[in-house]
Amino acid sequence: MRLKILVTAGDGIGPEVTNEAVSVLKEVAQIGGHTLELDAKRIGGIAITTDGTPLPADTLAAALDSDAVLLGAVGGNEFNSLPPDKRPEAGLLQIRSALGGFANLRPAFAFKELAVNSPLRPEIIDGADILFVRELLGGLYFGQPREWNKTTDEAWNTMRYTKGEVVRVARIAFQLAQKRRKKLCSVDKANVLEVSQLWRAAVIEVAAEFPDVALEHQYVDAMAMHIMNRPKDFDVVLTENLFGDILSDEAGVITGSLGMLPSATIGGKVNLYEPIHGSAPDIAGKGLANPLGAILTGALILRHSGGLENEAAAIESSVRKVLEQGFRTPDLARTNPQGFTVLSTTEMGAKVRETVKTMLVSA
Ligand code: IPM
Ligand code: MG
Repeated sequence: MRLKILVTAGDGIGPEVTNEAVSVLKEVAQIGGHTLELDAKRIGGIAITTDGTPLPADTLAAALDSDAVLLGAVGGNEFNSLPPDKRPEAGLLQIRSALGGFANLRPAFAFKELAVNSPLRPEIIDGADILFVRELLGGLYFGQPREWNKTTDEAWNTMRYTKGEVVRVARIAFQLAQKRRKKLCSVDKANVLEVSQLWRAAVIEVAAEFPDVALEHQYVDAMAMHIMNRPKDFDVVLTENLFGDILSDEAGVITGSLGMLPSATIGGKVNLYEPIHGSAPDIAGKGLANPLGAILTGALILRHSGGLENEAAAIESSVRKVLEQGFRTPDLARTNPQGFTVLSTTEMGAKVRETVKTMLVSA
């Protein structure tokens, strides 16, 4: 298999964690005799500083010419006072929109070994396994008009969806539910918002094509509570852009650390892969970042763009194994540092690499 991957490492801890993800991917590819064509381009704050724009034209061209894009993180404190369309985050939204993927898959599952990191009781999270399907190209993030009018001291954004936009992402969510526990929970705010009423009606229509999947609806405020109270009751959770942004961070609590969560965006011309965590400028460059979210994102590249399910699963099992053996990055060792071997970003990457190698070579 041949896979052309563009790495846009971005800002903060992005370069450190994507380096580890790439080295794990290279190891796995070499063992299986697969060819990875890797290229790297700038995005986000680093691109603003160097090229004057958060998404340079050559980055976009290279992205459109690849099979998959692996993105690290964007954002930095020095850009915080810029208007939204000039910030590093604008580069991310532009690349998302240009690549066209509208279904952002964000798995959030409990690692037994990390239960101690979660403020939730172990019996609440043990066995929890939710797949968020976040609509990524609509809603408040892209809706027009949007403006902060400094003369009138008013600002507005537009939450807008067409039925077609809901139908296409709902279909993907139902298809994924069919391969899992056959439950789909659609999250909206249909008691207040017309957009949510359209959302709910469209989801109900799509549900008729998937009679084997049990559909339920929850309001987003109630859902925020259910995720904390009874995460195990949920399988696939489908929701619009902003609600999905918020709920998927909240679900980091199930996993034990936001640093563990991968994501894949599918449905467009080129799939886009990013860990859910941000650029964490406060710990950047210090070897403190947790590369496991990025490494697990690499596994999703193999699964969704490479068709290499075994290899993807091997990376996921290796991450679990390394945790079982007591290895932790500092974010995961806060509660019990003495019980664990605390590793730097590169040491953790190397540990996963060794483990996956042993696993695949002996298989
Ligand atoms: C995420 C992030 C982004 C988003 C930011 C960085 C624009 O929070 O991927 O969840 O809001 O989508
Ligand atoms: Mg977010």
